[in-house]
Amino acid sequence: MSEQTYNQIKVLISEKEIDDKITAMAREINETYKDTLPVIVCVLKGSFIFCSNLVKKLNLPLLEIEFLAVSSYGNEIVTSGKVNLTMPLTGSIEGKDVLLVEDIVDTGITSKFLINYIKEHNPKSIKFASLLCKPEKLQDHINIDYLGFNIEDKFVIGYGLDYHGKYRTLPYIGYF
Ligand code: IMP
Repeated sequence: MSEQTYNQIKVLISEKEIDDKITAMAREINETYKDTLPVIVCVLKGSFIFCSNLVKKLNLPLLEIEFLAVSSYGNEIVTSGKVNLTMPLTGSIEGKDVLLVEDIVDTGITSKFLINYIKEHNPKSIKFASLLCKPEKLQDHINIDYLGFNIEDKFVIGYGLDYHGKYRTLPYIGYF
């Protein structure tokens, strides 16, 4: 796949559909955490737009946000199968209610790695939110507590997701 121009990109999920879905997810998350102070763990770089739009809709002003970064794709469109933690957590999540926020679950290798990594830091609880999931590609069962959309097996871009580091700022989920 070579770099494409914007007019070759097709819309898979519109900005409005994503926004409506995030509103519904936020409603559920507000309910779950109404009596606690969760810490959101945002997985960079892909989930930065989803995570920021989600937290703006949460009615939980005292929540904390931590970041970590992983890379598993390099510049390819299939996973290398090896997850690199390129930026570890810096703040403590010990004894806290953690909500891990991912952009997409493809094979599930990254999510599995991240859930184990979070567990090693002894949180009180861990829940998992992902904007997208490709069920056909999943290698193992992953429990996604808050899921935006199941999608077919297509390489998608936009709303934080990249191809060769580009297209992250598209306001919708698209494909070539
Ligand atoms: P997994 O480990 O195979 O589940 O892949 C998860 C990671 O791969 C995600 O966090 C994304 O960064 C990246 N990824 C998977 N599918 C896509 C895609 O369709 N577009 C862009 N990035 C993807």
